[in-house]
Amino acid sequence: MAGLICIVISYLIGSISFSYLIAKKIKKVDIRQHGSGNAGATNTLRVLGVGPAIAVLLLDCAKGIAAVLLGIVLTSDPLIAAASGLASIVGHNWPVFFGFRGGKGVATTVGVLATLVFTAALISGIIAIITIVITRFVSLGSLIFIVGTSIISVVFSPQLAYPSYYLYFLVAISLLSIWRHRTNIERLLKGEESRIGQKATSK
Ligand code: G3P
Repeated sequence: MAGLICIVISYLIGSISFSYLIAKKIKKVDIRQHGSGNAGATNTLRVLGVGPAIAVLLLDCAKGIAAVLLGIVLTSDPLIAAASGLASIVGHNWPVFFGFRGGKGVATTVGVLATLVFTAALISGIIAIITIVITRFVSLGSLIFIVGTSIISVVFSPQLAYPSYYLYFLVAISLLSIWRHRTNIERLLKGEESRIGQKATSK
């Protein structure tokens, strides 16, 4: 029962769309109708600038951290911690408070993976940041981070001492992210993806 409560609360935490709230507060606009149309930190950077984007990045990341910690504190069960983290990402992507139209879950996933599988997330995070600096494609860096963290966690699972069932959560998180980035992937393949500092192509 405590596990189910953690998962539901985590979904609700994830459903708080900080990019939507901050864009409404500062510019009185729906972030989902501007830039790429995504309710996330990258689009906040395009629409509102650096300060609000950093705020959204940190707050969205905190949702993932909070969800995993909630699972650990209330149940001491890593399985519930992982399920709560996944629930917060689902909440971010399909928020009950905002008509189920949210973001792509990247910052929230960063929070979840950094709390759940820290070493793998750190290694993959460094690779992702280098990719973003070189290419200026946030979407590519995001995908490299999420899929890379999952691959490192699974391949080095015995050395890093992660529970084997994390595999299922990592595969689910990676597939979710690939699905949410499907239009970004299409644009990357066509050479049409917008780089940081460029005007975004919608969706
Ligand atoms: O924050 C999500 C990022 O990976 C891509 O966002 O707005 O460029 O589609 P966006």
